[in-house]
Amino acid sequence: MSTGTVQPKRVTTHTLQEMKANGVKIAMLTAYDFSLARLVDAAGIDVILVGDSASNVMAGHETTLPITLDQMIYHASSVVRGVQRALVVVDLPFGTYQGNTKGALNSAIRIMKESGAHAVKLEGGREVIGGIERILSAGIPVMGHLGLTPQSIYKFGTYVVRAREEAEALRLREDARMLEEAGCFAIVLEKIPASLAAEVAASVSIPVIGIGAGQGVDGQVLVLHDMLGINKEFNPRFLRRYAALHDVITGAVEGYVKDVRSRDFPSADEQY
Ligand code: KIV
Repeated sequence: MSTGTVQPKRVTTHTLQEMKANGVKIAMLTAYDFSLARLVDAAGIDVILVGDSASNVMAGHETTLPITLDQMIYHASSVVRGVQRALVVVDLPFGTYQGNTKGALNSAIRIMKESGAHAVKLEGGREVIGGIERILSAGIPVMGHLGLTPQSIYKFGTYVVRAREEAEALRLREDARMLEEAGCFAIVLEKIPASLAAEVAASVSIPVIGIGAGQGVDGQVLVLHDMLGINKEFNPRFLRRYAALHDVITGAVEGYVKDVRSRDFPSADEQY
């Protein structure tokens, strides 16, 4: 039965594959709540990532490590309710998939069942390949994530560019091929040299989405709050700000406080 409303055509993993084949760049952003996900989706984004960066952006933690599976499911289910077109991908949080393939599968199943999202993302290459294969065996699409993997920040010790040295670059090339062979539908490459990212994107058949990885990849991802300029302190070279919401929101709240104090708000027209 028709409801009479025209629904936009959903983005699927197959759509992303076609975009790569046709040279159409993929636009991906994070979102963590219903209201912003609805705006981002309606503005035409292809992929919404419910990133574990929610740990920093939404909860104020210093790293992505503390966020829990229940918290990710809460964010993801809010996002899913706001989305009509985009593919919704959810990060498996730290400690819910590493070193335990059955645990990885259970975490992914919980995300899919309880949030209604369309795919999961997890960090790492060969060391998590068993978990990836097990999740894929349940029919759950998996996006990989190589390069700077923030869940390993205490191993790296710093957020500087990864894989500048040939040994690490070689390992990354091999890991990308392993993720492709395992059946991942896409890979995020974070903060690596642009030439290496372009080489990887050209060497695998699945879409490669970059963040701080240059122009030679199949698409780009940014953290929504960073590109909207909500946060003034985070200024990496790869970040382009498309708005200055820090100043807009501060100005709006200052104006409201002033109007309440001065009794300008509410006016006669703003009461019953
Ligand atoms: O959690 C996140 O926001 C991410 C992106 C930076 C790719 O993983």
